[in-house]
Amino acid sequence: MLSPDALKKIDEAVAKYPSDQKQSAVMAALTIAQDEKGWLSVETMDFVAQYLEMPPIAVYEVASFYTMYDLKPVGRHKLTVCTNLPCALQGATLAAKHLKDRLGIDFNETTPDGRITLKEGECMGACGDAPVFLHNNKRMLCAMSPERLDQLLKDLD
Ligand code: FES
Repeated sequence: MLSPDALKKIDEAVAKYPSDQKQSAVMAALTIAQDEKGWLSVETMDFVAQYLEMPPIAVYEVASFYTMYDLKPVGRHKLTVCTNLPCALQGATLAAKHLKDRLGIDFNETTPDGRITLKEGECMGACGDAPVFLHNNKRMLCAMSPERLDQLLKDLD
């Protein structure tokens, strides 16, 4: 279900916790699984549950609670907009609308060419640099004015 490389990374995450608390590595395991598969299908979550010896429902609960996990396929580039209050007050709502208009999609949708998915996220801990975006869960983008978003859209493949 997952590659030997992914399983090795999960084993490394599991090793950080006491041997009877493998489930503590569930967030790391889901991230590793999603990085490899692109999104988290029920089959992938069931595999993670079995691997960590925990009930599947407990894995579903984690995967469905945090916005960085995708329970359906996403585009090559996932742009997550922080819409919490500090970012909203600094232009995140306008920035999100700008992107929606440019891309012709709403939150949780993907452009027809499979290039970009737009998602809504929670505070990313960089409120002073609002509006804050996250690219593919890995790269934080700060002070994203409409002009900077236009440049970003040009730069993405
Ligand atoms: S409110 Fe957006 S990063 Fe904190």
